[in-house]
Amino acid sequence: MTFIDQNEINKIRSSVSIVDIISSYIPLTQKGKNYFGVCPFHEDHAPSMSVSEEKQIYKCFSCGAAGNVFTFVENYLNVSFSEAVSLIADKVGLSVSIPTIKKKDIQYKEEYELMNFVLKFYQNNLNTEIGKTAVSYLEKRGVLEETIQDFSLGLALDKNRLSRILKEKEYSLKMLSDLGLIYEYEDGIYDVFQNRIMYPIHNLDGQVVGFTARCYLKEETPKYLNTKETYIFKKGTILFNYHRARDAIRLSKEVILVEGNMDAIRLYSVGIKNVIALMGTSVTKEQIEALKKLRCKIILMLDNDNAGENATFSIGNRLEEERIIFDIVRLSGEKDPDSYVVQNGKEALLENIKNAISFVDFKLNYFKKNRNLNDATDLAEYIKAVLNGLKNTDDAILKEITLQKIAKEYNISYDVLKEQLGEKEKKIENKVCLKTNTVLKDKESGYDKVCMKILFYMMNSKIFVKLYQTKLGLFPTKEHRAIANEIVYYVEKNKTINLADFISYAENTKLKQEIMAIISNEKDTNITEESMLELLEIIRKKIKKEEIKKLKEDIKTEWDVNKKVALLEKIAELKKGSVENESY
Ligand code: UTP
Ligand code: MN
Repeated sequence: MTFIDQNEINKIRSSVSIVDIISSYIPLTQKGKNYFGVCPFHEDHAPSMSVSEEKQIYKCFSCGAAGNVFTFVENYLNVSFSEAVSLIADKVGLSVSIPTIKKKDIQYKEEYELMNFVLKFYQNNLNTEIGKTAVSYLEKRGVLEETIQDFSLGLALDKNRLSRILKEKEYSLKMLSDLGLIYEYEDGIYDVFQNRIMYPIHNLDGQVVGFTARCYLKEETPKYLNTKETYIFKKGTILFNYHRARDAIRLSKEVILVEGNMDAIRLYSVGIKNVIALMGTSVTKEQIEALKKLRCKIILMLDNDNAGENATFSIGNRLEEERIIFDIVRLSGEKDPDSYVVQNGKEALLENIKNAISFVDFKLNYFKKNRNLNDATDLAEYIKAVLNGLKNTDDAILKEITLQKIAKEYNISYDVLKEQLGEKEKKIENKVCLKTNTVLKDKESGYDKVCMKILFYMMNSKIFVKLYQTKLGLFPTKEHRAIANEIVYYVEKNKTINLADFISYAENTKLKQEIMAIISNEKDTNITEESMLELLEIIRKKIKKEEIKKLKEDIKTEWDVNKKVALLEKIAELKKGSVENESY
């Protein structure tokens, strides 16, 4: 949610030129009315991004990225929407009243200050006499001074030293225990973390919100003790090293996703800085969203054990569902990326990344596990699993190659495989439509395309919104209706609408993705009232046709003669209406 007023956002947007701003980041050349450049949001060399001075939007014809000046900066610099707004406001010398980040800062200011104080305290402990053992533990692991500084590593001592000093400083004990730093018992207060090496954990904005603490004097369970869930530390929303890695990720257009904090720390310290850690083997919805925001390819590089292999399969499935582009690296020999680098060095790891494999190739291997492919039943199961695993892949060439590969390797007819895969794909398509019935997935339907076009027109001018309201009233489908309602609401509030401003507004709606997809799909720039009327008419006819069809069905099952007649009359009425309207 943003706290910046919509009018203020629109004012800032209309006082800059999208061409000026985008060309300050990437070179643009003018061709006719529009400007073109190499799209920074996907791997490309051809100028597939067009920027419209007139509409104040950009659109990539290759990857579908689209938006206004704010979304460009947001995605190009990997910053939040409100950061993008204030950045652009700065450029033109306007001031923004209350950007979200500031608001959030104010909200947890005290908490963040406290966490930073605690962090400093832990860091100082490393310089004490007792700290020497911890430093030498880290040294032994090859974690040297520079890395200790980069990651603000520290040390929790014993004897409840933290509790005592915080109490002296008169911090609220409730807040300390709410934040997971102390235990408050009847007989006194105790440090949660004792005799552990402290790794601060930052939220995605870079604020310290918790710690993960490793035992080092002896092996203990748990090996890592984490801050409990608190109102500022929600583990499922965090990715370790996310804030530090952002710049490197933007430059390399790739992010390496590992399991352990130590893996991330190791890679980062040898100069592979585009790395973030999941802090385990599962991934949450929020983490997926954060990964999507990076708009780059993921290299999934989990541990070399069974758990890591299974997690590669399940996380890979999640990424595939979300249409995130990714490849897989399975290291061999060492247990994780950290020890792999220690043993084999940075270059060897980079070589592995260069040879990353597709998820399909990973699965070809993965499904072999626990199966004896010399056994016919096992082999059949294996082939079925592989075909199953292929159906979500968008890459037609990869599909083709894989089919040919298994046909050859196991001496199975290519045509049979192809046919089987076709069946599976059909099944899954039906399922998708039934289950979610979302507008944008149903690409085949012409009806859907027409609705999307109408919605696109509506975002461009309130004249089209009015036409929608008077000529159609409502879309028959829930999904289209929801978007139309959002547009109507916007026009009622702002008395006007244009594409660029509506994009800013969409940022705060739950329909953002659908709206953006409509914008990026629409290539028609010749928008006229006549074509809008034609589109509305198509939908109106379709509604009528459906109604008639349903009435006909009803007649078939209706036994009461009077009611049957009434239904027939209704049909006649509808048909008459459409004839009248057709001549109109
Ligand atoms: P690992 O056991 O792979 O940790 O767990 P690691 O990073 O290799 O640690 P070192 O090398 O032994 O120091 C992966 C991640 O799972 C979480 C941590 O976030 C860890 O980085 N974890 C693991 C815990 O939270 N608690 C544990 O007890 C163990
Ligand atoms: Mn590990």
